[in-house]
Amino acid sequence: MEIKTNRLLFRTYEEKDAERLMAIADNKNIAWNMTDAFPYPCTLEKVRECIKDLSSLEKRDKNFVIIFEGEIVGCIGFRLKDGFREGSASGECWIGEDYWGKGIGTEGWDALVDYIFGDFDVRKISVGTFSWNIASIKILDKCGFTEEGCIESELVRFGKVCNECRYGLLKSEWEVLKNKI
Ligand SMILES: CC(C)(COP(=O)(O)OP(=O)(O)OC[C@H]1O[C@@H](n2cnc3c(N)ncnc32)[C@H](O)[C@@H]1OP(=O)(O)O)[C@@H](O)C(=O)NCCC(=O)NCCS
Repeated sequence: MEIKTNRLLFRTYEEKDAERLMAIADNKNIAWNMTDAFPYPCTLEKVRECIKDLSSLEKRDKNFVIIFEGEIVGCIGFRLKDGFREGSASGECWIGEDYWGKGIGTEGWDALVDYIFGDFDVRKISVGTFSWNIASIKILDKCGFTEEGCIESELVRFGKVCNECRYGLLKSEWEVLKNKI
């Protein structure tokens, strides 16, 4: 399974990606803004386990490596929620630090949102981010998300407490943004 944008290619994980992923993911500046599921400190064994886990998840989870100029530069994925959150999705993305500030995160998120709303029965994408994560907040803003509120002292990362900012984008808003209606 592949998704193409102007400069990026998303494809599903392969076992051979482990070394490259380890080389770019073993970075605390990335881990600061990720959930506990992100392997830090990173070892090849943990990365291999992650690849296995992410590849074997049920159909509600889709995860990809991001390829830019022929190299893996990060990862992106989403989860389709179920039960009383059916019709809602959440997403996550990280980019290797050497590639920050080149618009990859924005281009990746924009494509992810198009894929989720275009191919799945989803009415809303919801994302929570650490309030200190300015880059992530800028991306969500550029992709049309609305800030829905910040939850005080909700998160803790490496011992530091942080507010969680919640962002949402409705399919009806995305359709207007993309001139679909
Ligand atoms: C958040 C992240 C994905 C952004 O990726 P990116 O490819 O650098 O994003 P872009 O180049 O599209 O930049 C988006 C905006 O953030 C700004 N930005 C990028 N890195 C920044 C940083 N370290 N500090 C502040 N702003 C930053 C860019 O200048 C740009 O601003 P603009 O809209 O004013 O032009 C990346 O920094 C990352 O992987 N961080 C660690 C993990 C993470 O935070 N994941 C998101 C949680 S889902």
